[in-house]
Amino acid sequence: MMYKLIIKPFLFQFDPEKAHKITVGILKFICNIPLGSQVLKAIFNYHHPALHTNIFGLQFPNPVGLAAGFDKDGHYISEMECLGYGFIEVGTVTPLAQTGNPKPRLFRLPKDHALINRMGFNNLGAEALALRLKSKKTNLIIGGNIGKNKDTPNDNAADDYLKCFNTLFPYVDYFVVNVSSPNTPGLRALQDKEPLTNLLNLLQGLNKAKASSKPILLKIAPDLTNEQLDEIIEIIKLTEISGVIATNTTITRSGLNTNEEELSEIGNGGLSGSPLTNRSTEVISYIYQKSKAAFPIIGVGGIQSANDAIDKLKAGASLVQIYTGMIYEGPALIKTINKKLVEIGYNSKIN
Ligand code: FNR
Repeated sequence: MMYKLIIKPFLFQFDPEKAHKITVGILKFICNIPLGSQVLKAIFNYHHPALHTNIFGLQFPNPVGLAAGFDKDGHYISEMECLGYGFIEVGTVTPLAQTGNPKPRLFRLPKDHALINRMGFNNLGAEALALRLKSKKTNLIIGGNIGKNKDTPNDNAADDYLKCFNTLFPYVDYFVVNVSSPNTPGLRALQDKEPLTNLLNLLQGLNKAKASSKPILLKIAPDLTNEQLDEIIEIIKLTEISGVIATNTTITRSGLNTNEEELSEIGNGGLSGSPLTNRSTEVISYIYQKSKAAFPIIGVGGIQSANDAIDKLKAGASLVQIYTGMIYEGPALIKTINKKLVEIGYNSKIN
């Protein structure tokens, strides 16, 4: 309530990227004052044994995670833990630091409860992230979402993913191969059968050579056709990776309340939030049914209410993630979802 009445109107006065900086700055400040994190946890955390989810060989305290892109460089892990997330995905990180696309590159579509972003993997690089994760003070489950630098041609993309994988290996609990961002030119071509199979085989080769391997997941776009989704299922089975994250942002713009003029002023980028809700649930459902539940799915895209999260779990997701919903609904959304899951007698699937 307080978020929607006071905090959101305040933050929405600022350019979205600035608002993001203000929000995480305030959270960091609160966490650093005595009792600050305890107060936040008392407000936002919700624990219940029914929420414990055992998947990928990992024990999640609850099935609601922070989606990639919010804390790309792992600066705010304890702060996000205070907000009640069951796991955090850092990244997308690339081998070398890069500044991303010129600003403005993040836009609100309030009439659609949506965002459009063309950040372009702005991040401080895999090594800086590894150093930060090394000194983190929490046992919260961390996923490492990895990508390629903009200047790396697709023919050499695998090298970038392998570098990130090796650098982060000791410090993350699972990996996500991001080949679905619309904001790095050509990246989504890596979702094609041959390059994707090669990339995942190479990563799995490295993974299996380690003393104990880590779950590798593939994050996919919502804009794939059913034929492409069939191929993805086949590739996941073939390469024996652990699962899929569905979905990233969409490049489509259909059915929006925001008018054409505003949309063309904003320009290119990935659309997230409510307009994505149904499509990403549809993708989850398709993969779950077509693969006969062969591997776990993390559902993400347009979760703005407890029911949106429940729809994704019912469609076959084992865990869910949020980004845009936290901007529009506030951080209490995580607790709201978890409480509702307990109320409806949610029982996590154990894979
Ligand atoms: C993202 N997302 C994203 N995904 C990813 O794999 N790597 C990334 O670096 C980013 N960066 C990013 C930045 C911004 C500003 C947004 C809004 C989103 C996509 C995100 O993780 C998620 O898949 C989609 O946003 C859909 O979920 P929501 O936002 O509708 O809950």
